[in-house]
Amino acid sequence: MKSLAEAENARFVADRPRSAALSEQARRTMPRGVPMAWMDDLYDHPPVWIAGGEGATFTDVDGHTYLDMYVADMSAFCGHAPPPVVEAVAARIALGNQFLLPNEDAIVVSEHLAARYGLPKWQFTLSATQANTEVIRLARALTGREIVLLFDGKYHGELDTTLVVSEDGQIVPEMAGLAQSIPGQARVIPFNDVAALEAALAPEDVALVLAEPAMTNVGFLLPVDGYHDELRRLTREAGTLLGFDETHSLVCAYAGFTRDLGLDPDFLTLGKSIAAGVPLATYGMREEIAALIAQPEEARHASGVVVDEVSTGGTLFGNALSMAAGRAALLEVLTEEAFARTAELGERMGNGLRDAIANAGLPWSVVQYGSHACYFFVPEPPTHGAASRAADDPALRALIRVFMANRGVWESGWWLGPTVSIAHTAADVDRYLEVFGELLAEIA
Ligand SMILES: Cc1ncc(COP(=O)(O)O)c(C=O)c1O
Repeated sequence: MKSLAEAENARFVADRPRSAALSEQARRTMPRGVPMAWMDDLYDHPPVWIAGGEGATFTDVDGHTYLDMYVADMSAFCGHAPPPVVEAVAARIALGNQFLLPNEDAIVVSEHLAARYGLPKWQFTLSATQANTEVIRLARALTGREIVLLFDGKYHGELDTTLVVSEDGQIVPEMAGLAQSIPGQARVIPFNDVAALEAALAPEDVALVLAEPAMTNVGFLLPVDGYHDELRRLTREAGTLLGFDETHSLVCAYAGFTRDLGLDPDFLTLGKSIAAGVPLATYGMREEIAALIAQPEEARHASGVVVDEVSTGGTLFGNALSMAAGRAALLEVLTEEAFARTAELGERMGNGLRDAIANAGLPWSVVQYGSHACYFFVPEPPTHGAASRAADDPALRALIRVFMANRGVWESGWWLGPTVSIAHTAADVDRYLEVFGELLAEIA
C-alpha cells in the first residue's frame, strides 16, 4: 500500500504544475499559501487551484475536471453554479447588495423556512458558526445557565464554546489560541448513550444541548432507535433547551432529520448549502425564544454601557445578496422533487458501495441516508465518536483520496463521506462507483 500511495502522490504532483506554481507564489503573501488554512489542512496532497465549476464537477487550473463527491463539505450541495442562483445573484448585485435594511426576499425566505422546518421565527447570519454563537447566547439568556452540552466528535463551527474535547475525563480546549477557561462552559458526552446524557443533565445547570441529529463530522453516525425521544424528554425534564444543527445533515432530507424523524427542537441551525454556498446561515426558534430578540428596555445606542439586550447581529448579516441567493436556492433548487431524486441516487450510491466492498471481500460497512453516505473500515458502523475515530485509518484515507483525484473523482474527507448533490446524475454515481471499485481491486 505504501508504494501505491507514493506513486499516486507523485503522479498527483507531477500532473499539476500550474497549481504548484500558484501555491509557491501564494506562500509569499498568505500563510501556507492559501486564503484560509483549511484549504491546505483538509487534504494530505497539495491543494489544487480552481478554474471553475458547473453542476456536479469542477475544474482546476491544470485542466483536470473532477466529479465532486465532497461538495465543499456540504456547502456545494446545490451543485456548482446552479442557474436560478446565478441569475438571482446577478440581478441582485446590479440593484445593490448591502443596505443594512431589509428587503422582501427576507420575508419569502423566512416564511418558507417556517413552513418547511416547523419553527416559527428565523434570524440570519453569514455562517453556521455565527448562527450557533447566537443560539448559545439566547439559550443562556433564557435559562440563566451557562453550560452547553455537546457530543464527542461534534463540530459546530469556529466558536470558542464548542471547540472543546474530552480528554481522560477532562474537558480541554481543542486547539491552540483558545482561552483555558472555556472548558468550564461545556460538557462533552458520547452520542447515543442515554445514561451519559441523564448524568450530564442531572445537575440542572445545562442551558443548551447543541447536537447534529445524525453526526456528520466524525464519520456519519445515525441515532439509535429511541435516542431522540430520550434526548427531548430528558432536556425538558432538566429545563435545558435543545438545538439541532442541521448545517450538514439538511442534505439528507427535504426538511432535514428534524422533519424526517419528527423531532421537536427549540432551535434549528442551517447553513452552507441553503444559499448554494453564497454566505448565508440561519437559525429557527420558538415564539417564546424569539421574544428575547424583541426591543429591549434600553437599546444599545452607545458603546461602553451595559444593556439588557441579547448580543446578536453583524453588519453584513441578512444582506440583500445572501437573501436573494437563499430565496433562489431554497425555492428553486432545494425542492422536494430534487430531494426525492438525490435520495434515489444516494441509495444507488450506498448499495453500490456495499456491493463493491462485498466483491472485494473487505470487512467494511456503509451508512447511507438520503443523498449522503459514509464507509467505515470496520464490519459494523460505529454509533459514537470514539468508536468512529478508532475505526479510521488515516493513511488509507489519504490513499483513497489521491487515487480517486488522479482518476477525476474528488472524494470526501474521512469525517464526512460522499454526497450526491442536486446536480448529480445516475451516470455520475456509476462513475464514482467504478473508480471506487478500481481502488478496492488495488488494495484488497
Ligand atoms: C454541523 C456543523 N455546524 C456548523 C458548521 C460551521 O459552519 P461554517 O464553517 O459555515 O461556519 C459546520 C462546518 O463544518 C458543521 O459541520
